[in-house]
Amino acid sequence: MSTTTSPKPSPLHPYAGRFDVHTSIPEHGIPREQILDELRQMSTEEDRMGDSGRVSGSIYSGDHDHYGFLIEAFGFYAHANVLQRDMYPSATKLEAEIIAMTASMLHGDDDTGGLITSGGTESLVTAMLTYREWGRSQKGITEPEVIMPVTAHPALDKAFHYFGIKVIKAPVTAEFLVDIDFVREHIGRNTVALIGSAGTYPHGLIDPIPALGQLALEHGIGLHVDGCLGGFILPWADELGYPVAPFDLGVAGVTSMSADTHKYGYALKGSSVLLFKPKSMRSEQYFMIAGWPGGMYASPSMGGSRSGGLIAATWASMLALGKEGYRTIAADIFRTAAEIKAAVRSHPELLLIGDSAFNVAFRSDVLDIFHVNDGLAQRGWRMNGLQVPPALHFCVTRPNTQAGVSEAFAHDLTEAIEYAKNPPQQMPISGAMYGAGGVVPDHDRIFKMLVRRLDAMHEVQ
Ligand SMILES: Cc1ncc(COP(=O)(O)O)c(C=O)c1O
Repeated sequence: MSTTTSPKPSPLHPYAGRFDVHTSIPEHGIPREQILDELRQMSTEEDRMGDSGRVSGSIYSGDHDHYGFLIEAFGFYAHANVLQRDMYPSATKLEAEIIAMTASMLHGDDDTGGLITSGGTESLVTAMLTYREWGRSQKGITEPEVIMPVTAHPALDKAFHYFGIKVIKAPVTAEFLVDIDFVREHIGRNTVALIGSAGTYPHGLIDPIPALGQLALEHGIGLHVDGCLGGFILPWADELGYPVAPFDLGVAGVTSMSADTHKYGYALKGSSVLLFKPKSMRSEQYFMIAGWPGGMYASPSMGGSRSGGLIAATWASMLALGKEGYRTIAADIFRTAAEIKAAVRSHPELLLIGDSAFNVAFRSDVLDIFHVNDGLAQRGWRMNGLQVPPALHFCVTRPNTQAGVSEAFAHDLTEAIEYAKNPPQQMPISGAMYGAGGVVPDHDRIFKMLVRRLDAMHEVQ
């Protein structure tokens, strides 16, 4: 049967019982208006949460007028496969300009080149493939190693897993920045690259990129800066009066950097920029095969066919906002983050982790921070739970800069702390999976649970 209506809604399937469930292509097409109406209902209801301004990270622009404009730009090329450059030469113009504009913002030079990828993960995975190939071609390294801070993003672990790269995890200091001495001591003859973040996902902090760059130069190895999160917001900080440490391609020794256009670039989801300096590094991961019956095959990156729509929308976002637009939004974000930090600082029970201009992370020595999170969640806030140490972060984006949001947060945080002092149940509802109140979690059991959840995310109900 192709359509059924299941009566039982659940958190993964809230629409069960409300809309038809399709398990095979309907024999006869469904009227467009009905399809659009269903999508409209679901997306309108789901957008309410992000638009409320009470969500950490995730939705970076939230400006539906801007989205409307991007969707118009997307529409011109949604169907275009940018592999076919003879048919769509505009893709070369748009991609090259996105790369050039990003490189110029991040202090690249004439010898900086780049790629457009589908997001932060692909940018990081591609960068790691590049270093593996570069190590092999330039230094004859067959068992490549990369040193990365424990705070760097797990997409890098994904790359190491995919590509058989050995990772050495560097601890962080009391300031939650990579321990440079550890990195120095662990560089060996198989090391192909070091990693630093600008800023880190957990705490929004910038690793000591100049010191990492110095080590990379001394040892003739690569240094990737993961600016997936911070790459489009940190460039505006200094001039807006929020000093940040040097973090980009202008730092000696940095050989690649990722910056996500689909985060603080305010483009549509599915785009990121990966920059290489020197440009020649880019070709280390090009893939070519000569004798295939389908023809000579050459591919610049992971993907095969790609839609021109995302490239057009990304280009349109950068041009429509201009530096002035980025600066204006950044000023609002930095101001809101400062207000949220002030709220956190006003509570002796809470401790800020570092001092990020945009991502406010905090923990507690006297309360279970996940009880605080439960109190905030009950008041409509969607924070991100962290571990090692247990903490929360509020990654401030444009929807959070709406009038009244930081004041409401300050008010609700006070109530959430009172809630956490005397919670109705011993175990917090949120973060229990990895916070677990200081108990070392049973990874095997949790991984099995996660596999079940990932499976369930791909099943109809
Ligand atoms: C620092 C950092 N790097 C990489 C990523 C991965 O990006 P994506 O989710 O676009 O794959 C993220 C995502 O939040 C991030 O914060």
